[in-house]
Amino acid sequence: MSSASLLRAAPDVIAAAARRVMARCEELARVSADAASIERVYLSPEHARVNRLAAEWMRELGMRTWQDAAGNQVGRIGDPAAPALMLGSHLDTVLDAGRYDGIAGVLMALEVVRLLREPGVDGWTVRLPFAIEVVAFSDEEGTRFGKALLGSSAVAGTWNDAWWDLTDADGVSLRRAFLEFGLDPARIGEAARRPDELVGYLEAHIEQGPELDRAGEPLAVVSSIASARRFQLVVEGEARHAGGTPYDMRRDALLGASEAALAVERICSAEHHIVGTVGRFEAFPGAVNVIPGEVQFSLDLRGEFDGERDRVWDALAHELDEIMGRRALRWRSREVHSAPAVFCAPLLREVVAGGIRATLPPRSDAPPVIFSRAGHDGMALGVVTDVGMLFLRNPDGVSHHPDESVSAGDVAHGIRALAEAVLLRGTERI
Ligand code: GLV
Ligand code: MN
Ligand code: MN
Repeated sequence: MSSASLLRAAPDVIAAAARRVMARCEELARVSADAASIERVYLSPEHARVNRLAAEWMRELGMRTWQDAAGNQVGRIGDPAAPALMLGSHLDTVLDAGRYDGIAGVLMALEVVRLLREPGVDGWTVRLPFAIEVVAFSDEEGTRFGKALLGSSAVAGTWNDAWWDLTDADGVSLRRAFLEFGLDPARIGEAARRPDELVGYLEAHIEQGPELDRAGEPLAVVSSIASARRFQLVVEGEARHAGGTPYDMRRDALLGASEAALAVERICSAEHHIVGTVGRFEAFPGAVNVIPGEVQFSLDLRGEFDGERDRVWDALAHELDEIMGRRALRWRSREVHSAPAVFCAPLLREVVAGGIRATLPPRSDAPPVIFSRAGHDGMALGVVTDVGMLFLRNPDGVSHHPDESVSAGDVAHGIRALAEAVLLRGTERI
């Protein structure tokens, strides 16, 4: 495949684009439910505010904009009758989040549109055979309702009506949150896109892990996105007096759940490319002098392949039976999220690799190819269109944390590589 640059934008134009992305990441970070941290969950007032900002930035580029039936913000440019190459990522965050997870990908996509519109650039003069849509997905993280990828599942047409009854920490159902946000649950199907409307989905994202940083590489092609399952687990014992209850009478739910959390680490870490995380853990009634009678906790399980992930869940369930049986406790689980592994389409892997080669010459060897352990909107979109991803170096691999970072220089490389990839896809010079 060619490593020639198709993009004619000067380096200072791309550097300015990267500076704009960094400044806008700061601007969006200020749109938070919490003054001391970044928190922007699905269907919140902050979600509405960032959608308005993104829509303004899209219109500035001459894009037609709309908020779809699932609260995703979309901008479109190009032939109204042509299928679209979708670019984007998400604007929702975890709790106490960083500034770049998802956000940088949306803003970089907007800069790609800007670069392709520069006079004299191949993209617009050769007339791309597709329109471009930039999508700011509304719920990738699943922070509010536990179920991740709600925004992109609606676009993929895989919305499940059972989700309407999911509730947030305040007991607000997804259905009610839709209505309060001004969306009509009955119209959710209108967000769905048909395969013939799309030529593919390309996303740039920080790596959220240390591989590129360790290798001294700014960019990588993503080969696949890990499969994931999430569960809410409950362990039931008996709440009794902390002083008066002898050990032979105790049925301490916290001790059983703690053993379960350790079993997650032991069983997952013995496997290749499987990670399990207990991220939330709450004891009830939560008093210093009462033996915990109930514990609720979460489990997030990821694997490169669905089969291995499911086999590990079966082994964990077996282990929980043993632990709880031994401690005279009961346990139950509810699965709140499941997404199969998604393999990036060979053509889009090639154009992303070509984009990196054109950006970082002289690079005769193949650019790094890595598997994403983190989830992305492409996991949902894979059923409706081809998916490709570009990863950016994430210093020290810190993500889902306020210290998350990416350098302006790497963002500049990323913008350029993504623009080159779009041009390669459009001109089929691969
Ligand atoms: C999202 O970032 C996830 O991987 O959970
Ligand atoms: Mn993300
Ligand atoms: Mn994330």
